[in-house]
Amino acid sequence: MKKDFTRLLDITREECAYLLERALFMKEARLTHKAYKPLQDRTLAMIFEKASTRTRISFEVAMKELGGHAIFLSQSDTQMGRGEPIRDTARVLSRYVHALMIRTFAQDTVKTLAQWASVPVINGLSDLYHPCQVLSDLFTVKEYKGSLRDVRVAWVGDGNNMANSWIEASLLFGFPLAVAVPPAYGPDDALVKEATEKGLLTLVAEPIEAVRGADVVNTDVWISMGMEEEEEERRKAFASFCVDGELMKAAKSDAIVMHCLPAHRGEEITDEVFERFQEVIFTQAENRLHAQKALLEWIMTEEIHGYY
Ligand code: CP
Ligand code: NVA
Repeated sequence: MKKDFTRLLDITREECAYLLERALFMKEARLTHKAYKPLQDRTLAMIFEKASTRTRISFEVAMKELGGHAIFLSQSDTQMGRGEPIRDTARVLSRYVHALMIRTFAQDTVKTLAQWASVPVINGLSDLYHPCQVLSDLFTVKEYKGSLRDVRVAWVGDGNNMANSWIEASLLFGFPLAVAVPPAYGPDDALVKEATEKGLLTLVAEPIEAVRGADVVNTDVWISMGMEEEEEERRKAFASFCVDGELMKAAKSDAIVMHCLPAHRGEEITDEVFERFQEVIFTQAENRLHAQKALLEWIMTEEIHGYY
């Protein structure tokens, strides 16, 4: 059966742990200039309905370095922009390429693509989830904190795609997650219910309640792609949800701050906090490359590399 990655919970904890091991292998191979090209003659098609810097470049470089090739498809330059249904696009592209990646608005579009494609489909961000980013972030937390077992993670800001994928990560690995969001900007209801019932998620109203005692403090933009029309009301609702130096005093003294980027300094994070943790934040961005190499290898080859 083909392996889709439409959300983090498409994979098991064991499979995710395996991918994190492989990401480390990929990172070390690159650092030591060892060529590793398991994807020769394989092609990834990447459909973008929203802007991207990291996702586009990291997937493209990952495919190239693994011996394969990536094709960038913008919706407007293809027949998708003129109304060709996603179920037809899925079947056409499946005749040419070995996997698809899509960045889009509705999660249903990702699901439809996965349903009709005969090749694996990766979600490169939808309004609901950003699983590739959180896969990379889990790898980064492991690098900085040694393990995912005992980390206390805080989320401050919008209950958006990143927040939802962090809740899925908490469900997968069982670490405690505290989420501080303004009323009416909460994460996905079903995920909140499940993670709260399992005793993993605490949803709070004040950033300080989430950050107190945290090992990892996460934030993201107040106005995600596609939300531009809500800009004014969002700026008001999120005004007290800024990760600043004062808030960070409540976290553990060795806590790290993470940001998936792009960042809006002076909104969700101050320039001072961003620069204090820039090494972590840019390592997160770098790790997209290694984590996605692991993902691409796993979904595009049948071979299992003996980690589980
Ligand atoms: N973090 C992230 O997905 O960045 P891009 O929007 O630049 O791809
Ligand atoms: N929440 C942000 C993430 C960008 C990588 C957005 O959807 O725009």
